[in-house]
Amino acid sequence: MSIGILHKYGDYIDLGGATPISMGEGDTPLLYSEYLSEKTGASIYLKVEGCNPSGSFKDRGMVVAVSKALQKNKKVLVCASTGNTSASASAYAAKFGLISAIIVPNGNIAKGKLAQAMAFGAKIIAVDGSFDDALNIVRKLENESSIEIVNSINPYRIEGQKTAAFEIIDSLSSIDYLCIPVGNAGNISAYWKGFKEYANLKNFKLPKMLGFQAEGAAPIVKGKIINNPDTLATAIRIGNPASWKSAELAISESNGSIHSVTDNEIIKSYVNLARRDGIYCEPASAAGVAGIIKLSKEIDISGKNITCVVTGNGLKDPVNSEKFASTNIHEVKSELNEVLKAINKKD
Ligand code: F0G
Repeated sequence: MSIGILHKYGDYIDLGGATPISMGEGDTPLLYSEYLSEKTGASIYLKVEGCNPSGSFKDRGMVVAVSKALQKNKKVLVCASTGNTSASASAYAAKFGLISAIIVPNGNIAKGKLAQAMAFGAKIIAVDGSFDDALNIVRKLENESSIEIVNSINPYRIEGQKTAAFEIIDSLSSIDYLCIPVGNAGNISAYWKGFKEYANLKNFKLPKMLGFQAEGAAPIVKGKIINNPDTLATAIRIGNPASWKSAELAISESNGSIHSVTDNEIIKSYVNLARRDGIYCEPASAAGVAGIIKLSKEIDISGKNITCVVTGNGLKDPVNSEKFASTNIHEVKSELNEVLKAINKKD
């Protein structure tokens, strides 16, 4: 049976007396990329977080936040979301007998994520604003007694997400750089917390944190709130990240840096992850890979050990997949000769 992060890393997670639950989150693949390593001269590993139960890294944090919600006898999980947090919250709500109410930017969440939340029976509230507007409303629900807010402003989310750093160190002993997409900036903060805490126990050299935002939604890179963030990587379409300060701290404490990547660069890496590494992720998840390819042309990373976090599953965003990563469909009669002809035809 899958044990999940709370049973595997329970000694290192502050659960405050709550009963650990599990949907089998964590223990995701860490794969060596021959393609990216050859291209950059570094040793590049991919942490495939789309293999979590609801298809993204959010489950690592959700399992902790929901353990706490159950301990506090809360009835309703609420979050603002660009899609993955809402899919995760709704899955845990379904399993643990809670209601989930998700507040999403109308028209700006990928179809697969919406389909997931619907399948899990969530109450879906689509606001005519951005993720940042939705999160502002959610913050105001803080004092509702039956509601547990499960965005990463809930510290238990960060507490769970830090376990991905533990897994990387358990596999590789140490790394030089961690490359990670940045949206609301909770995950980069969580990884840094994880690396620091684990270094006290395991004694390894801390990695530099490299964060990557989409160019049209790069408030931390630009040092100012973006009022109308825009990128096709809707998961990270965020103009005023909640964990802005802790992300900046992670970057400065680790001697890392934060950069932007264009939608074109994101899509190129998204397609190459599928075609060269066999990893089907959503566009935002490719931002870390796009980022290290870009940086490899500016700084010398040869010989370095690098892990790129690939944050969510490609099945969540079929529309962008069809738009940017489709191939021809050969429609033929169901006859052997026709099928053979199609197999041998040059596309
Ligand atoms: N990658 C994916 C696939 C995401 O869904 C998110 C965030 C990120 C990266 C960025 O992580 O916010 O911790 O910096 N998604 C949130 C959501 C905002 O609502 O699902 P972050």
